Amino acid sequence: MRDTAISDPSAPILLLDTGVGGLTVLAEVRKALPDARLIYAADMAGIPYGTKTEAEVAARVAGLLGRMSERYKPRLACIACNTASTIALGMVREVLEIPVVGTVPAIKPAAAMTQTGTIGLLGTAGTIRQAYVDNLEADFASDKRLIRVAAPDLVNVAEAKLRGRAVDMSVIERAVAALRRADGGADIDTVVLACTHFPLLKSELAEVIGGEVQFIDGAAGIAQRIVHLTKNQEFRKLNNNLAVTTGTLDEFENLAPVLSNHGIDQIDRF
Ligand code: DGL
Repeated sequence: MRDTAISDPSAPILLLDTGVGGLTVLAEVRKALPDARLIYAADMAGIPYGTKTEAEVAARVAGLLGRMSERYKPRLACIACNTASTIALGMVREVLEIPVVGTVPAIKPAAAMTQTGTIGLLGTAGTIRQAYVDNLEADFASDKRLIRVAAPDLVNVAEAKLRGRAVDMSVIERAVAALRRADGGADIDTVVLACTHFPLLKSELAEVIGGEVQFIDGAAGIAQRIVHLTKNQEFRKLNNNLAVTTGTLDEFENLAPVLSNHGIDQIDRF
C-alpha cells in the first residue's frame, strides 16, 4: 500500500499521452476535481505509440514519467493512453514512487451495455494485440463476441480536428467498415473507444455507423479512480494548469484555444 498523505496541497496531477487524446481524460478529471492543479504532457516527439514496439513504448513512457515526476513532483500520474497503459502500466508502477492510474479499454462496462452480445473495439494496433486486452475479455466478456479493429489513422484525424482542420471522413468510414465487415460485425450495438483520441471523433463515428450503436470509453471511470485514490488529500491550486510538449512549441501553439477550453493557459516545452 502506498501512503496517500500529501504534504504539498498544490502538488499537481500529471497526465501523459502522445498528443491531444489524453485531453478526453483530463476533461473528466477536471470536472471531478476542479481544485486540482493539472499538468498535461503531450509526447508529440513520440507520436504515434500505436505503431511502435512494446519495448519502445515501455522505455519511452517509463523514462518520460520518471523525468517528469522529478521535475513537477506530481501526487499522482495518469497514463492517459490505452496503448501505453496496456503495454507498460505494471512497469511504470514499479519505477515511480507515486500512484499511477492507467487507461484501459472499457470492456467491462461495454459487456454490461450490449443487448446483442456483440461489441466492437477500436484501438491502435499496439493496444488490440495486448495480453492485457485478452485478460479483460476473458474476465468480463467471455460470453460476448468482441471484435477488435486497429484504426491507427483515427489518431491523426483527431489531432487534425483539434487544430481546426477538416475531418477526413474516409478514415472514419474505413474504421466503421472494418468493424461491420468482421464476422458477426452486423450485430455490433456497442463500440469501445479504446484509444483516448477516439472520443474526439465520437460524433463522426456515430454519424457513419448509425442506428442504435452506443459508444463507451474509460475517461469517466479513470476520473473516479483518481478521486478515490486522492480522497483524503487537500487540493489548493496555487498555479495555473500547464501543458508541456516534447515536440516544438510551434506545432503546439495552434492548440492554444483548445487547451484554454480545458482550463490550460500555459504551454511549455519539456
Ligand atoms: N491516445 C493513445 C491511446 O490511447 C494512442 C495514440 C498513439 O498511437 O500515439 O492509445
